[in-house]
Amino acid sequence: MRAVVYQKPFSVSVDQVPKPTILHPDDVIVKVTTTCICGSDLHMYEGRTAAKPGIIFGHENMGIVDEVGSGVTLLKKDDRVVMPFNVACGRCTNCEEGRTAFCTIVNPGFGYVAMGPYSGGQAEYVRVPFADFNALVLPPGIEHEEDFALLADIFPTGWHGVQLSGFRPGESIVVFGAGPVGLMAAYSAIIRGASDVFVVDRVPERLEKAKEIGAIPIDFSTSDPVDQIINIRGGKEVDRGVDAVGYQAVSGDGKTEQPNVVLEALIRVVRPTGGLGIPGLYVPSDPGAPDSAAAQGYISFPFGKLFEKGLSLGTGQCNVKAYNRYLRDLIISGRAKPSFVVSHNLKLDSAAEAYEKFDKRIDGYTKVLLHP
Ligand SMILES: NC(=O)c1ccc[n+]([C@@H]2O[C@H](COP(=O)([O-])OP(=O)(O)OC[C@H]3O[C@@H](n4cnc5c(N)ncnc54)[C@H](O)[C@@H]3O)[C@@H](O)[C@H]2O)c1
Ligand SMILES: [Zn+2]
Ligand SMILES: [Zn+2]
Repeated sequence: MRAVVYQKPFSVSVDQVPKPTILHPDDVIVKVTTTCICGSDLHMYEGRTAAKPGIIFGHENMGIVDEVGSGVTLLKKDDRVVMPFNVACGRCTNCEEGRTAFCTIVNPGFGYVAMGPYSGGQAEYVRVPFADFNALVLPPGIEHEEDFALLADIFPTGWHGVQLSGFRPGESIVVFGAGPVGLMAAYSAIIRGASDVFVVDRVPERLEKAKEIGAIPIDFSTSDPVDQIINIRGGKEVDRGVDAVGYQAVSGDGKTEQPNVVLEALIRVVRPTGGLGIPGLYVPSDPGAPDSAAAQGYISFPFGKLFEKGLSLGTGQCNVKAYNRYLRDLIISGRAKPSFVVSHNLKLDSAAEAYEKFDKRIDGYTKVLLHP
């Protein structure tokens, strides 16, 4: 089959690889219909994780069940399914408590930003382990394909960012980053009844999308985003803040990486006793970090100010399974249409060019869906 294979930093290619087979009775093989490129793939693509050349990318996968292992009880051949980006066992303590992003069985060493032991789904087929637990069944047919594809990661992750911030209906919120995750966080806050939603970025097409959904765009390339927000609010801070940027945050010129810049801004802009949700990725080791401390995951930020303001913060990967069933139902009922974020639907064979353009955040490449 064809699959997107990581060659070396800034290079992927579509190669012939062996088709996956059932390795355990709980597996299914899914024929992929849609697989998305994610900002998280870019950290690997840029050589900024432990990902090794030769792996197949793709953690945002949906498709049709093609083969069913003998231990699978709930799924049938031809079911239409979407998988959470983080594989989980469904049986360990964290899984039982709904914290599937922290499954201790599939992530004993917590190495998941580099795909762990799993082959990705930017391919014609993907193997799904613990399939009864991981695959979410969708209505048959082709309706809402783009919306459902976003249930694998960014819609739940944006929602999770808002959840981590402690957000309550009626509150104001700022989201740093208008990439797919940030836009989904802003959209989730709007669905959940935010009074004011600010979205900070420097990429014009992305700020435009934020405006389209009713958020207030803030361009941090022109001046300090915290001052801009506090001015608009007549001197007041916001209740909640979401970091949808992570460790590769840049300063206003867009050129210099500054891993602490968003955390610093959030601590300034959120009101005392407010909350910060941090779904943006931070890593314990970064081969391309701008300084030796950041290379070991040490990020300096004003903890004293955070303490003084009594801020809460929540971090970590999204427990996709805690949300995806309900977000699926919001899509089916017509109350959510996250696919406004999709900029490109391309053939799998266009992956190399798509990665390059998405990585440069040019030509309006916001969210790319690949169809094998
Ligand atoms: N927690 C999770 O489960 C989870 C899941 C998916 C993605 N992520 C992470 O979330 C982050 C965002 O993902 P994405 O797909 O939207 O990525 P992306 O790279 O497309 O978007 C990041 C955006 O941040 C903007 N940005 C950079 N520096 C900034 C700054 N100082 N202030 C404001 N904006 C700034 C960039 O211009 C870009 O538009 C990534 O770190 C990704 O790895 C986490
Ligand atoms: Zn993703
Ligand atoms: Zn588990």
